[in-house]
Amino acid sequence: MSAPLVLGIESSCDETGVALVRGDELLVDAVASSVDEHARFGGIIPEVASRAHLEAMIPTLERALGEADVDLSEIDAVAVTAGPGLVGPLTVGASAAKALAVALRKPLHGVNHVVGHAAVDQLVHGPFPERLLALVVSGGHSSLLLVDDIATDVTELGSTLDDAAGEAFDKVGRLLGLPYPGGPHVDRLAREGDPGAIRFPRGLTAAKDQAAHKDDFSFSGLKTAVARWIEARRDAGEPVPVADVAASFAAAVADVLTAKTIAACERHGIDTLVVGGGFSANSQLRELAAQRCAEAGITLRIPPIRYCTDNGAMIAALGSAVVAAGVQPSRLDIPVDSSMP
Ligand code: KG4
Ligand code: ZN
Repeated sequence: MSAPLVLGIESSCDETGVALVRGDELLVDAVASSVDEHARFGGIIPEVASRAHLEAMIPTLERALGEADVDLSEIDAVAVTAGPGLVGPLTVGASAAKALAVALRKPLHGVNHVVGHAAVDQLVHGPFPERLLALVVSGGHSSLLLVDDIATDVTELGSTLDDAAGEAFDKVGRLLGLPYPGGPHVDRLAREGDPGAIRFPRGLTAAKDQAAHKDDFSFSGLKTAVARWIEARRDAGEPVPVADVAASFAAAVADVLTAKTIAACERHGIDTLVVGGGFSANSQLRELAAQRCAEAGITLRIPPIRYCTDNGAMIAALGSAVVAAGVQPSRLDIPVDSSMP
C-alpha cells in the first residue's frame, strides 16, 4: 500500500504555498509570492499579505493539483502552518485547510513552520538520522533545534533574542542604501569586500553569555555597531567603504551562527546538521558552515534554495511525517499562533 497523500498549505508570511507529498516523495510544490507588492513599502504589510493570500490560495491549489494530475478526492490528509507567523496571513491558510478537511472528511494537522524548514530536507536528502541539529535562519527566525523525531520530538535549544539573521541583513542593506529585501544585495556586495577590514561585535559569544544564552543569538547590537561605524565615517567626511562594511558584517553573522551551532552539535554529540530557511542562501554562511562542519566531522545538509524559502513542500513534508508517526489530528477549531514556540 502506498503512503498517504498529504496536502500542505503554507501562508505564514508573504508566500502562498501548496504542495503534495506522498511519504518522502514531493509530487508538486506550487508557490505564489507577494514580495513585489511589499518592496515599495520596504517591509511586509500584514494586511497586504493577507489579501494576497486570499487571492492566490485557490489558484495556487488548482495549479498544484493540475501539475500533479491529482484529484482533491485522492488526498488523505491536510497539513497547514499553524504558526509562528503573521496572524492574518496564517488565518487565510488555516481557513482554506479547515474548509478542505471538512469538505473532504480528512484529518487536519496544524504544524509548526520553523520545524517545517528542517523537515523539507527529508524530501531532498532522504530520511533523517536518529538525532540531528537544525539551524533555521530567515527574515523572521533564527532558531537552533534539537531534532530527535521530526514529527514528535523537537526541542528549541535557542533562538534570536532580537533580530533574525535575514532581518539584520535587510536593515544593514537599508543603511547601505540597497533595495529591499537587502539580504541578497549585502551578500553580493560582501563578496567584493575584505571580511577582516572591520572587527564588528559577535553577539552572545562572550564567556559571560555562555550560561544563560549559549544557544541563543543576538544581531541587533551588531546592526547598531554597523550604523554607528557608518555614521562616524560620514561625520568625519570620509567615504564609506561599503563592500568592506558588508563583508565585515556578513563575516560576523556567519561566524556567530556557525560557531554556536557547531558548539551545540559537539555538546550534544550530534554529527548531522540541517540548515534551512531563506537566509541559508547566504554565501558567507554556506562557505563557513561547509568549512567548519568538515573540520568538526559533521555532515551538513542544506536543501536547494527553492526549498529553503517559504513553500508548501516544507509543510507537506512535516505533515507527511506527522501522519506516518500516527499523531492525533488537530481539532477543526485550532487557532493560529503567531508566536508558536
Ligand atoms: O525564508 P525567507 O524567504 O522568508 C522569511 O520567512 O523571512 O527569508 C528571507 C530572508 C530575507 O530577510 C532576505 O533578505 C534574507 O532571507 N536573504 C538573504 C539572502 N537571501 C535571502 N540574506 C543574506 N544573504 C542572502 N543571500
Ligand atoms: Zn520561513
